[in-house]
Amino acid sequence: MSTRDHRPIAPRLRRSLLFVPGDDRHKMEKACGVGADSLILDLEDAVVPDHKADARERVRDALVAMDFRGSERLVRINPIETGLALDDLTVTMAGHPDGYVVPKLRSEDDVRFIDRALSTLEAITHRPQGSVGLVLLATETPEAILNIRRIAQASLRSVAMMWASEDLSNAIGARRSRKVDGSIPDVFTFARSACLLAAAAVGMEALDMPFFDFHDDAGLEREAREAAEMGFTGKAAIHPAQVPIINRVFVPTREEVEEANALLQAATEAFARGQAAFVFNGAMVDAPHINRARKIVARAASAPTAP
Ligand code: COA
Ligand code: MG
Repeated sequence: MSTRDHRPIAPRLRRSLLFVPGDDRHKMEKACGVGADSLILDLEDAVVPDHKADARERVRDALVAMDFRGSERLVRINPIETGLALDDLTVTMAGHPDGYVVPKLRSEDDVRFIDRALSTLEAITHRPQGSVGLVLLATETPEAILNIRRIAQASLRSVAMMWASEDLSNAIGARRSRKVDGSIPDVFTFARSACLLAAAAVGMEALDMPFFDFHDDAGLEREAREAAEMGFTGKAAIHPAQVPIINRVFVPTREEVEEANALLQAATEAFARGQAAFVFNGAMVDAPHINRARKIVARAASAPTAP
């Protein structure tokens, strides 16, 4: 259960994941044409309590009727403790989504609960066992952060882990989740790092939370770049205008690819000389730098458009 190789769900590019309110047909239709790698049709925080039942049916109908133009079709359900999650799954599974985003997780038991429910619903809807994926929101409660490794290991359906600070902020009584200069306070960088480490430990992707000020392109780009440089492979969006910026940032730049290729070329020559550690651009490089360069080249090749 420790590597991606054992996961039944094929990897795919998830640079941008656009949240769309599940009770808003106009936004769902609009979202299909914006080039997001994934859409997250939301039944949770973007839907008022009175619209929950209606939103489920709208999301199911959208899944059945709309052309998603290649975007992955994810549904964010309500938290387990609301009592709404099972109905969310039951109604929307009829629309054959690719997966579910599970919020406000507390422990591995929550993941297993959803996993079992999906197994039953897969049987009922004639889908292969284990084929519906999970994106885990694993930093929204303090318990989840303390249990994060077991949460990451709890289900082979899990394809990615996303961190988010707003609900955690409420749970711990923080008065704000960003410093005045926009940077992330310690307790939240801890959550962000925990997500990245737990995801990497089990071979799944780590995803960065949305940037809420959708008029601040420079702020979005800065935060996305920081996440990408740290190892996150994608970032949630809340507005279509954020999607192209995120898509661009989560593939290596042309300069990064050129440098990686030059390093690999130098490594080939160094190996031929019998040298595993050598000087490149004035600094020492060895195996980890070479592996990182290989990953950069592979990542660039996986993107649909050249950087
Ligand atoms: N998905 C799809 N379409 C969206 C969208 C989204 N997330 N956000 C905005 N749009 C559409 C609007 O409907 C509008 O379409 P139109 O020009 O055809 O009328 C267009 O993009 C421009 O939107 P804009 O006027 O700039 O924003 P808004 O005031 O309509 O919406 C928000 C602002 C924040 C309410 C909206 O972006 C939104 O609903 N975001 C997602 C919220 C969410 O899901 N939150 C939960 C996760 S944190
Ligand atoms: Mg939330």
